[in-house]
Amino acid sequence: MSVSLKGRSLLTWLDFSPEEIRHLLELSKKVKLQSKNGEVSRRFEGKTLAMLFEKRSTRTRCAFETAFGEEGGHPVFLSTSDIQLGGKESIEDTARILGRMFSAIQFRGFRQETVEILVKYSGVPVYNGLTDMYHPTQALADIMTLEESFGSCQGKTLAFVGDGRNNVARSLMVICAKLGVNFTVICPPELNPDKDLTDKCLTLAAVSAAKIVVTPDTSALAGANAVYTDVWTSMGEEDKKEERMRLLSPYQVNQKLMDKTGSGASIFLHCLPAVKGEEVTQDVIDGPQSRAWDQGENRKHTIKAIMLATL
Ligand code: CP
Ligand code: NVA
Repeated sequence: MSVSLKGRSLLTWLDFSPEEIRHLLELSKKVKLQSKNGEVSRRFEGKTLAMLFEKRSTRTRCAFETAFGEEGGHPVFLSTSDIQLGGKESIEDTARILGRMFSAIQFRGFRQETVEILVKYSGVPVYNGLTDMYHPTQALADIMTLEESFGSCQGKTLAFVGDGRNNVARSLMVICAKLGVNFTVICPPELNPDKDLTDKCLTLAAVSAAKIVVTPDTSALAGANAVYTDVWTSMGEEDKKEERMRLLSPYQVNQKLMDKTGSGASIFLHCLPAVKGEEVTQDVIDGPQSRAWDQGENRKHTIKAIMLATL
């Protein structure tokens, strides 16, 4: 079946079919191979990308900027200290103008509603580079990394340990439910993913045969192919730091916790940036089971694939 994603925005994987996500995964692998072979083309020549940032970023910004620029496109970085974005000027009006000057828009910030408004009023593809609710471009790179270690991701088990209600955990739950990857969220009940999204994912999982489990019990790590964690305190939630330390200290990913998978072949994943000594110990993230650095690199290949498919 041929898949066309021209003109599409990526706000959450909920809007994409399993076939469309698989198409992007295969394209990402092709793009990575081309890059390793030193093949550079000019596939974004004459195109422009507005990159809006309300929150900080290393990987996402660099992935979008280098992927677009090295193919001849012109990316423009705009932080909230550079432009009006919902301050003096409404987001709707900013979107209208950006849509007339740019081929596409990347947004990283707080509200999911902002990316929805950007889509509605700009008329060009919008890519969610992280909001409080979702981090979809990250999840594609995560599945790519899982497949690099284990071949097909279908039927494999990814266990997320940490703040189960955050943007990374939520995006993983959706993409896993769509692709038939078993997804186990291990967190204190206070930090469970929200019920609405969990119910949606359980419905999707019934179709893909994925098992979705939410539990506070780390013994659920038994048999997991990958153990994933993220910071305990996401951007914008700094006032929750003390509470998170208290709730999540028993969930630190250290070697003892990694060993609960029961297999030395299981891998460790982290979206980065990592706070070593909090959610993960240095020996694990820098150790032989870690694929965090490949995962970081894969952000670029997957983001290039998303832009190639949609522009
Ligand atoms: N993983 C990730 O999104 O990294 P940055 O915050 O550095 O973009
Ligand atoms: N959950 C983290 C992800 C960073 C890439 C945050 O939102 O800060």
